[in-house]
Amino acid sequence: MASVIIAGVGSYAPERILTNEELSKMVDTTDEWIRTRSGIGERHIAAGNEACSDMAVRAATAALADAKMNASDIDLLIIATCTPDMPLPSTACIVQHKLGIPAHATCFDISAACSGFLYALEIAYGQLLTNRYKRALIIGAEKLSSVVDWSDRATCVLFGDAAGAAVLIKVDQPGIGIIGSDLGADGEFADKLMIPAGGSSCPASAQTVEGRQHFIRMNGREVFKSAVRVMETVSREMMEQHQLTPDQISLVIPHQANIRIIEALSANLKMPMDKFYVNLDRYGNTSSATIPLALDEARRSGRIKPGDLTLLVAFGAGLTYGAALIRW
Ligand code: ACO
Repeated sequence: MASVIIAGVGSYAPERILTNEELSKMVDTTDEWIRTRSGIGERHIAAGNEACSDMAVRAATAALADAKMNASDIDLLIIATCTPDMPLPSTACIVQHKLGIPAHATCFDISAACSGFLYALEIAYGQLLTNRYKRALIIGAEKLSSVVDWSDRATCVLFGDAAGAAVLIKVDQPGIGIIGSDLGADGEFADKLMIPAGGSSCPASAQTVEGRQHFIRMNGREVFKSAVRVMETVSREMMEQHQLTPDQISLVIPHQANIRIIEALSANLKMPMDKFYVNLDRYGNTSSATIPLALDEARRSGRIKPGDLTLLVAFGAGLTYGAALIRW
């Protein structure tokens, strides 16, 4: 029986840090409000000339080094992003060229917002198991600062820029690596979190720019309630499918959107908060990058040891959601 394992992980966050104090000079907010309502203390912001692909390349380079592999070894590249460099071509093709991944590789982007990394993981997992590809590089990379309305205090305090990457390979050893993966989506909630213009239903025009329709719009309360519900359900289902109890999970790496969402998940699953990896205080919500960024930090800081079971769980615009169980 073969397994698919995570052979390397890497991440990158831009140098520039934007603190709550600085934000309180830009919009009508306070450090106290942001910390108590979201748990966020600061976030990283990409330089003007730093694109999503640049951050993806930095994270991927670190993941390849961690896996002791070269870009030339990769035959499948998937980038999860809602802030691609441009609508055409895919950011994956730009990253392929920048990294030097060979021309025979399959390279594409996927759009699943904050659940994007788990969607990429599931696709790569299936493709490697069927022997269609040998070594996959999956990346979550976001320049959310480019789609945040910096005059909207309800959203601009929440988001940041970063990238995280993982290298996946198949090994002939049962019971390790990706033990399970489950995804879902509920398009009924599509209008709760969106960028209204710039696509085919509302192409860019002087009016859309004037109406600030190219920025994120969110019904925070609705997203909050759905997030807690779907993350709890998919986590429970994942544990039940694999006959696991919460105490057998060493660490949960949840999507980092709001500390109160993570606390609600911890209470509902009856798993103590110290089992949840949290770094949103330092990065804010970096969408598809939160999980690989947290995974990279958790591994480097010794929070994950051989034999441990880790549960990854996310939700995002769509509404998309997913969970994955990893045995290290
Ligand atoms: N500073 C000060 N006051 C603020 C701010 C701010 N930055 N933002 C909103 N307020 C005010 C509101 O105007 C409101 O005032 P009012 O009562 O006078 O009307 C009050 O604070 C409460 O606002 P709520 O929106 O009800 O605050 P809530 O407690 O729900 O927290 C938040 C808002 C943090 C957005 C929360 O709802 C949340 O985290 N939701 C989930 C967001 C999320 O996870 N998004 C995921 C994105 S994932 C992706 O796919 C990109």
